[in-house]
Amino acid sequence: MNSIPDTLSGAIGADRYAVAGNPVAHSRSPRIHALFAAQTGQAVDYGRLLCPLDAFKATLTGFVQQGARGCNITVPFKFEAFEMAARHTPRAVLAQAANTLRFDAQAEGGWLADNTDGVGLVRDITVNAGVPIQGRRVLLLGAGGASAGVLGPLIEQRPSELVLANRTLDKARALVERHQAWAAQHGVTLHARALADVGEAFDVLINGTAASLGGGEVPVGAQALKPHALALDMMYGPAARPFLDWARAQGATARDGLGMLVEQAAESFTLWRGVRPDTAPVLALLRTEVDGTTPEAPR
Ligand code: ATR
Repeated sequence: MNSIPDTLSGAIGADRYAVAGNPVAHSRSPRIHALFAAQTGQAVDYGRLLCPLDAFKATLTGFVQQGARGCNITVPFKFEAFEMAARHTPRAVLAQAANTLRFDAQAEGGWLADNTDGVGLVRDITVNAGVPIQGRRVLLLGAGGASAGVLGPLIEQRPSELVLANRTLDKARALVERHQAWAAQHGVTLHARALADVGEAFDVLINGTAASLGGGEVPVGAQALKPHALALDMMYGPAARPFLDWARAQGATARDGLGMLVEQAAESFTLWRGVRPDTAPVLALLRTEVDGTTPEAPR
């Protein structure tokens, strides 16, 4: 698989997709989707679509006019992408944000918005890392787009308790409020807390804050972790390192966001192509590529 080019641009008859965002230069998504396409024999041409901050809609519309079939959306356009779609999956509605668009024709109902971040995270934790969420106590840090995208699917796993903690408590409260009915439906106790007051001994800690990007410290104390807990940062590469080092120093199992990245991509690919790729060999290859280089770390 090492010989697969980063994109299959220009492949004759290939359907076009892209990751749309700003910045997108360092996105690993074209690489991941090229590997999926090669593995499944799908004619997919997946590139990067750099969108000016004030012209996301126009850039996307132009891409569709060129015959594109779908795209992934990254920062800072996930909320705008959600609003542009005619139809939304229930998990996108909970997140109020989309990381995946499928450009279905008007006659088929129009553009479909999905959010595959949460199911990607859940698959990485429960399948790749082999750590169950059901019945466990889970702490999710951050109340921005990253956390909004994963909260609903985490609740679906039925943890015994889920605490959402954020520097700005009101943002955590608003996100919790939006998910409260979903939590009740799944028998999950869901709380919003301040970072200084998260509680103790969680089985799973997920960092969805941007603290490490700004060189900030891990925003909670070591008491938040149970011995041998799973501590996962949604970032990967150098940006995740301070959190992973901290987690290991506490005796936790540390995990970065690379598995989540590959799993959310697989879910998008499945939505577009109706074929599910095998993520294990792609994640293994990406791991060697990422650990052997020093990429920046977009989520
Ligand atoms: P994203 O869409 O990537 O989640 P975002 O919407 O800007 O980005 O959210 C960033 C998250 O990281 C927020 O929860 C933010 O906390 P606030 O809501 O209080 O701003 C959190 N964050 C950023 N820097 C942080 C730091 N140094 N310590 C703790 N939390 C931080």
